[in-house]
Amino acid sequence: MKTLESKTAEETLALGEAMGRQISQGLSIALKGDLGAGKTTFVKGLAKGLGVSEDYYITSPTFTIINEYPVPPLTLCHLDLYRLSSAEELEYIGFDDLLDDTHIMAVEWPDILKDIFFPFDIEIRFEFDENYNRRISVSGSGQRGENLLGKLFL
Ligand SMILES: Nc1ncnc2c1ncn2[C@@H]1O[C@H](COP(=O)(O)OP(=O)(O)OP(=O)(O)O)[C@@H](O)[C@H]1O
Ligand SMILES: [Mg+2]
Repeated sequence: MKTLESKTAEETLALGEAMGRQISQGLSIALKGDLGAGKTTFVKGLAKGLGVSEDYYITSPTFTIINEYPVPPLTLCHLDLYRLSSAEELEYIGFDDLLDDTHIMAVEWPDILKDIFFPFDIEIRFEFDENYNRRISVSGSGQRGENLLGKLFL
């Protein structure tokens, strides 16, 4: 696990961007942490690093549950599951169709996915520290997750 401190939104954007630049295949990222901790900010950076067109304004999917952005041949799927109460509701957003190698899944409030044993390659935890800065801990599991973190933090 790698832990970093982010003092500004720009630093969190830069971390997301750096990760986005290293991604060239489908991948799943769990984004954990309290309201306002920086999860959506991270995804804005991620989108930039992946090369999502500047024509898209990255907004929080709080109400839409999912926002999708094309980065051919891949698609960035930004999910916010805060308003869902069970994994069964995922059916309504066509979740099953997103589970292939062409989708990069960045999921805020991912805990309900435990019920369906959804595997994440990367987990990122955002915490407020005593000075109201953010402590960001990144961990990877499996080959894909570990490879990506190796490239990012070498
Ligand atoms: N170091 C930092 N990293 C990220 N965001 C920061 C930082 N410092 C200040 N901010 C501000 O905090 C807010 C973070 O909001 P953001 O929408 O990213 O949070 P979130 O974790 O997605 O919350 P929610 O659970 O409500 O979706 C933004 O207004 C951002 O500008
Ligand atoms: Mg958010």
